[in-house]
Amino acid sequence: MLNIVVCVSGGGTNLQAIIDGIDAGRITNTKITGVISNNASAYALERAKKNGIPAFCISPKDFQKREEFNEGFLNKLKQLNPDLIVLAGFLVIIPRQVIETYKDRIINIHPSLIPSFCGTGFYGLKVHEEVLKRGVKITGATVHYVDEGTDTGRIIKQKAVEVFPQDTPEILQKRVMEQAEWIILPQAINEIAIKKGMM
Ligand code: GAR
Repeated sequence: MLNIVVCVSGGGTNLQAIIDGIDAGRITNTKITGVISNNASAYALERAKKNGIPAFCISPKDFQKREEFNEGFLNKLKQLNPDLIVLAGFLVIIPRQVIETYKDRIINIHPSLIPSFCGTGFYGLKVHEEVLKRGVKITGATVHYVDEGTDTGRIIKQKAVEVFPQDTPEILQKRVMEQAEWIILPQAINEIAIKKGMM
């Protein structure tokens, strides 16, 4: 069994895609042992609770120093003992201690075709705004391992999505989620679970 912890900051539609993937058998041999948000009002926490998944909020705002948050976040992860950490719209820089402790065991979904439209400042709707500004005709999503850089880790999966002339950032974001993110993130988790099962 692959035990995963999903880290979220917002609506949690990617978390929902993972929950649905497990329920429907598209993701095999996998259990979500916890959901962690940095944002107490993230709807993703409700999605976790509705599905009986332990949900926690750990926010940098609740700690006086960033170092203390980093330690609190690492301690919570250690309690949940994941085989894999899935960043599903988690808008917090992952502390170095966490990256070192869980080397090659953290994956992230990013809403563009890396190396385009990624790195510092490229997250959420901003990515799609920049895609439209630049006028590219193809965008997409990427699942990658997390290393010390921002969106620089080894790429696991990518899927392309068309950009249309009338797109707004919101319309494009929804298409990228539906046609790419909600498909490749569950696929990547399933493939990692299958590999673990063979070890
Ligand atoms: C998703 O589009 C995800 O790719 C993006 O945040 C959104 C979260 O949506 N992540 C990043 O931009 C990370 N750099 P969700 O909460 O509905 O899953």
